[in-house]
Amino acid sequence: MKSIKKICCIGAGYVGGPTMAVIADKCSRINVNVVDINEERIAAWNCNNYEKLPVYEPGLKDILKRCRNRNLFFSNEIEKNIADSDMIFISVNTPTKTKGIGAGQASNLKWIEACARQIGKYAKGKTIVVEKSTLPVKTAKTIKSILQSFSKIDDENKIFHILSNPEFLAEGTAINDLEKPDRVLIGGEDQEAIDSLKEIYLNWINEEKILTTDLWSSELSKLIANAFLAQRVSSINSISALCESTQANINEVAKAIGMDTRIGKYFLKSGPGFGGSCFKKDILNLIYICNHYGLDQVATYWENVITINNWQQQRITQIIVNKMFGNVDGKKISILGFAFKANTNDTRESPAIKICNDLIEEGCFLSIYDPEVDIKQITLDLDQKPVNDKLILQNSSCWEYASTIQDSALNSDAIVILSDWDNFYDLDFENLINIMRKPSWIFDTRNVVDISKAIKYGFNVWSLGNGNIN
Ligand code: UDX
Ligand code: ADP
Repeated sequence: MKSIKKICCIGAGYVGGPTMAVIADKCSRINVNVVDINEERIAAWNCNNYEKLPVYEPGLKDILKRCRNRNLFFSNEIEKNIADSDMIFISVNTPTKTKGIGAGQASNLKWIEACARQIGKYAKGKTIVVEKSTLPVKTAKTIKSILQSFSKIDDENKIFHILSNPEFLAEGTAINDLEKPDRVLIGGEDQEAIDSLKEIYLNWINEEKILTTDLWSSELSKLIANAFLAQRVSSINSISALCESTQANINEVAKAIGMDTRIGKYFLKSGPGFGGSCFKKDILNLIYICNHYGLDQVATYWENVITINNWQQQRITQIIVNKMFGNVDGKKISILGFAFKANTNDTRESPAIKICNDLIEEGCFLSIYDPEVDIKQITLDLDQKPVNDKLILQNSSCWEYASTIQDSALNSDAIVILSDWDNFYDLDFENLINIMRKPSWIFDTRNVVDISKAIKYGFNVWSLGNGNIN
């Protein structure tokens, strides 16, 4: 078995960055090089100001302080690092296709293909290629065909082994998930290659947690794990609406059903719908595969998980507008939280995007606060310039970026809580009620507010899934 001395990871994003940081931290004898085509992103990873890292992830900066420029390096030198490495991780983005065959469902594999071609061209000798990105089933086959064509034409000594090693980390808890995973999954055909990757993980993970399978089972397991998790969120969200229409409370229901060990307590928190880069994309991939194999009923079954998710986002906007006398035109609404959940600066598929766009469409002015998401990202997501942009005339803009909760709430008619950041659990109601317009509303889509306390201070409160007050 080949012991790995040098790793290259292509893609310095939410998966590549934290994953390689933990590998470098746990395996000081391995030299880990993270490369990316995006120069700005690499510069941010190398920046001495740890507050400016491209990925906000609790615990990450401490690891970088220990490992960066010791055995963990970030650079744009893709070719050189591919050529020097024994093992190459592919960690590039694979968004859903927006046009052509499979548009709206299949993943766009153009970045994966580009990586495979680069690896094929520049790798030397025996190289293990590890799929880390979330991918449709059978992508390993595509990568393999591309790589094999290079060994045939270019250099017969080039030998490639492909492994699937899906990432199960959740953003916001990535470091903990990587350090103490429930399991590590390695799919592959070549036992020696599997053992080489396993040897790396054995530096900090017990052998019984490392599962090995064939390539396709490994690829499929990643899609299915995400589909099951998303399904639980849609299930509980569908019941949140039923609780609102009756006198039940979604938190009580979730607690009661979660104590059944067959159901379990995790992923039963009702909210504004799931976001993030994986859930929707993976379910769409699953639907695409099912349709491809003529399994239309199975495809429809999973489609409904997405339908409920979209509906949950839509109905929140409707509730806000209805409660505010059917009209938000000319009103100011404070949005607390724009990331798709707490403890990340990632906004991909965040429910906040749809809810904010829908509220803007209704004619109100939004003041958006998020502890980690910056103005640049929100501008990209909403496709509208903020008032903070000095080039924009104040009255033609429909949102502003607020740097504090207080700024966001000032003179607003309502606060809408969309992410579950820690500092939203203990809002200063006494101060907020004094700086907001009356009647003052709180719409809590994450169940973070102490309802009776807020009511005591004079707020009207709507809380997701709470039939007793709504
Ligand atoms: C997910 C998977 O958890 C992870 O294993 C995979 O590798 C990538 O996709 P991530 O998207 O980072 O991770 O976050 P996750 O914590 O799973 O949350 C996804 C979405 O579901 C968030 O919008 C979150 O707010 C929502 N959610 C989660 C709920 O609404 N309720 C819950 O109980 C749990
Ligand atoms: P993920 O959440 O899967 O990590 P990100 O979008 O955060 O996704 O990161 C993917 C990274 O991969 C981006 O920084 C992007 O610039 C990089 N990337 C995409 N294609 C290539 C390529 N061919 N070579 C190098 N880097 C790439």
